[in-house]
Amino acid sequence: MDAVTLDPDAIAARVGELDEAGARARLDQLVPEINHHNELYHRHDAAVIDDRTYDLLYRELESIEARFPQLVRDDSPTRRVGGPAVEGLAEFPHRVPMLSLANAFSDDELREFDARCRRFLGAAAPEHIAYVVEPKLDGLAAELVYADGRLTGAGTRGDGQVGEDIVHNVRTMRSVPTRLHGDDVPSWVSVRGEILFFLAGFEKMNADRVARGEKAFENPRNAAAGAVRQLDPKLAAERPLQFIAHSHGLAEGTAASPSHTEWLARFRAWGLPTNDLNRRVEGIEEVIVAIADLRHRRDDLPYEIDGAVVKVDDVELQEQLGFVTRSPRWAVAYKYPPPQVTTLLEKVTFQVGRTGAITPVANLRPVRVGGVTVSRATLHNEDQVRLLDLREGDHVVVERAGDVIPRVVRAVPDEEHASRPEVVFPSSCPVCGGEIHRDPDEAVMRCTNRLSCPAQLVAGLRHFASRGAMDVEGLGQKLVDQLVDRGLVKHVSDLYRLTRSQLLTLERMGGKSADNLLAALEISKGRPLERCITALGIPTVGEATARDLARHFLTLDALMAASDADLLGVHGIGEVVAHEIAAFFRDPAHRAEIDALRSLGVAFTPLDAPAAAASVVEAIAGKTFVITGTLPTLERAEAEARIQAAGGKTSGSVSKKTHYVVAGEKAGSKLAKAQELGVPVIDEATLLSMLG
Ligand code: IVH
Repeated sequence: MDAVTLDPDAIAARVGELDEAGARARLDQLVPEINHHNELYHRHDAAVIDDRTYDLLYRELESIEARFPQLVRDDSPTRRVGGPAVEGLAEFPHRVPMLSLANAFSDDELREFDARCRRFLGAAAPEHIAYVVEPKLDGLAAELVYADGRLTGAGTRGDGQVGEDIVHNVRTMRSVPTRLHGDDVPSWVSVRGEILFFLAGFEKMNADRVARGEKAFENPRNAAAGAVRQLDPKLAAERPLQFIAHSHGLAEGTAASPSHTEWLARFRAWGLPTNDLNRRVEGIEEVIVAIADLRHRRDDLPYEIDGAVVKVDDVELQEQLGFVTRSPRWAVAYKYPPPQVTTLLEKVTFQVGRTGAITPVANLRPVRVGGVTVSRATLHNEDQVRLLDLREGDHVVVERAGDVIPRVVRAVPDEEHASRPEVVFPSSCPVCGGEIHRDPDEAVMRCTNRLSCPAQLVAGLRHFASRGAMDVEGLGQKLVDQLVDRGLVKHVSDLYRLTRSQLLTLERMGGKSADNLLAALEISKGRPLERCITALGIPTVGEATARDLARHFLTLDALMAASDADLLGVHGIGEVVAHEIAAFFRDPAHRAEIDALRSLGVAFTPLDAPAAAASVVEAIAGKTFVITGTLPTLERAEAEARIQAAGGKTSGSVSKKTHYVVAGEKAGSKLAKAQELGVPVIDEATLLSMLG
């Protein structure tokens, strides 16, 4: 770089003078150059220019792109900070299905895997099959697609055939090259690998979140899954996600590689990150040694692994071995047992859940288990505590298995154990002091105070507002705590009685947030029946059962009137669940709450049973709809045409006779009018589900 280029003013002047052709030519130099420096810095830890020089090159790039936005290249490093948000995740079909792996849990199961391969190959089996042993990365499987060497697509695994399109986020990941290098780059190639957080990045991100008053992520895997599915790539760009390539999908316009090892070497040469710990070995006994070796290094690795993957190296043998249903015969995943550590059980406290269940919780001296710091673990119930004979002051073995909440496995015997007092279980609810009931057949103890118990009310409200239920945006934990503490909400239905002036009395609640919350509540009144059923929080009824119930009964009234026998007729519902549901709706307190919700405008909107055209007729036919604001995907005329085609009417103004207002972005006076008249307001997603 010459001295002139390094002066910010000179750069600005030069950029100002560029015409479009000049700008294009300069971008063709700058983009590869900055990408090259990025790669040296981030992947090889070997920068060759100082930060200031880099910053100035970057600034020049930004200013050219600002002047000529039409020239922004797909592989521009500025795309790493995230382009525009997408409205939803599109489908991402895999040209070759993404398979899963069969598991092995012991050395003998590995030997069986090897024996199976040899049996299948018969005379073609070599004396010792060559295998590649790789760390099984505990992240999220993803596929990257490069066409003519440029990153053009990225998707999650999904069901193996079709995943979700996440390319907007993958472009922000610095370990993913936007262009492949080399002269053997295929004209089209799909590369599979794992998206994950390295532990250092994960912990720093969590510390930053906690410092900002946000909730820490439970574990790196879930955090990675959440980050890559964000709609706004700026959010993904802020998170230090990594990609490691581990298998090939399909390659066109290039010679196929004869071995997995060679594919990995080519990935690396093209600029894709691969794992340095992958090892090629001969014969299954060497595999067993390599896996044991990897296991010893597990705690020192900068990322989480949950086992090792063993793959037949020779691609021709792979092809001969082929597949069984959804996994290849030529590979197996060896799963390590979940990591365990010993720590001090400092205290046992009690937590009250949504259904009043009182769960003992172990408060532990913070300890790292499998790369994550754990300070609490569930003890399930009284029987479990007695069975393990746990006492405060004991040392205990704690285990963390994948996504599962950490659990206490056993106490470590010591001499003082017998002299420590046994855990005392509460005789009344630790939150509200209410009476506790323990069913003789059940291990669980419950507070009988239901919604009069603040813990149950808070948990119930959180559930009601959660994404799979009424999806009330902005109604987070802190707000719910305040609403309950201040006595503004005593029942779920009270949410719909909240006024703007009440909300304004809350901490950190300005006029705009209050309006947003009221609008979100208004929108939630139109949620489809299945979500409303989930929201009611009937014990044993999760999202899947709620959907089955909605599809079967179509309306809330029909569901409420159902007997145990009717409920048993629903696909997938057994006696216990049928009994819970019928008992829930028989309870006068629940019926009163449902009446209150209805009178406040919650529509329990009959839905989307594609199998039951009747529900569409019921939801739309004869009803009057008013559309206001900009809908996310439908043009207004198209939405109106579809409503009319389903037998509904549309109108331009809201009156008492309006059945639904469909509100989109920037909805104005019509939305206000609907709220004033108590007309249910729905969003486009609900309309679409009503339309079936
Ligand atoms: S190969 C057909 N290699 O494990 C073979 N998978 O249980 C496809 N995984 O969904 C996978 N590390 O996301 C392979 N080194 C590795 C892996 C790995 C983690 C994941 C992968 C897959 C799951 C299979």
